[in-house]
Amino acid sequence: MVRHLKAELVDDMRAVLGEGPAWDGETRELVTVDILSGTVHIHDGVGRRRAVYDVGGHVGSALPAANGGWLLVTGDGFAFLERDGSVRDLLAVVADQPDLRFNDAKCDPWGQALAGTMRYDETAGSATLYRLEAAFGGEPPSRFRARVLLDHLGLANGLGWSAEGDTLYFIDSLSRTVASHPYRGDGDQLGPRRVLVVIDEGQGLPDGMCVDETGGLWVALYGGGVVQRFRPDGELDTVVSLPVANPTSVAFGGVDGDRLFITTAGRQEAADGKGAGGLWAVDPGTSGRPATLWRDPTMSKGR
Ligand code: BGC
Ligand code: CA
Repeated sequence: MVRHLKAELVDDMRAVLGEGPAWDGETRELVTVDILSGTVHIHDGVGRRRAVYDVGGHVGSALPAANGGWLLVTGDGFAFLERDGSVRDLLAVVADQPDLRFNDAKCDPWGQALAGTMRYDETAGSATLYRLEAAFGGEPPSRFRARVLLDHLGLANGLGWSAEGDTLYFIDSLSRTVASHPYRGDGDQLGPRRVLVVIDEGQGLPDGMCVDETGGLWVALYGGGVVQRFRPDGELDTVVSLPVANPTSVAFGGVDGDRLFITTAGRQEAADGKGAGGLWAVDPGTSGRPATLWRDPTMSKGR
């Protein structure tokens, strides 16, 4: 039996492309981004707005960092946002490919950032999934480098890990799949891809994702107006409906980790239904861990 739930509107923030929710268990804040408006939004555990940062360009994701601030995945690479609002660039990755931008990102269980790209025109073939690592030297010299984990993708999107960290879940929206790969934090490459879920045409595109405490995968279906939960074997067991078409991503949060926050995009809803681009939530009776905080790899000795 598939369970049906309804999401409620928490903040009608009218994002153009609301995305990337992440719960910081230390500051007890939810961070989200509006990718195309170039803003980073901070909410408390019950969804009250606390701060908005304009970071001056497209921002795919903002990942809470271990010593405060946020690692930004920008239009063309990585940057760092301090709590005082200042932004410093860390690494340009796709600056020579203006038809691409960075999109979804998340830290692995070791605090390393994975981030993927997409074409602005949302056609397939050029997207890549990277991991931000320490580097010494390079041209121009940088403390960071982006290791390619997957390439020739469609549109790189949701990320998640099994509790042990040995499985990476990854969504390529244009291939309509949620796939898994054997994963190692110190590995140079991913293990072979296994398709867990295929989303039918007409159901929307699989977009952002998170993993709950029992290993279930919560997937936002962009254009489909729902978030779906799949058991680790790929079986559908819960559907959360929204009255807006474009949920983009999900994260557990709140002080007990038992609220599922849902970001949405407003850009395609001409009539702009109430809550399009808003922050939504549901209490599904399960919880999930806070985001793993980003650890600057150039500051630590080995992994
Ligand atoms: C991208 C959007 C895209 C959507 C499709 C999002 O992650 O940022 O541009 O339309 O995925 O699923
Ligand atoms: Ca996304």
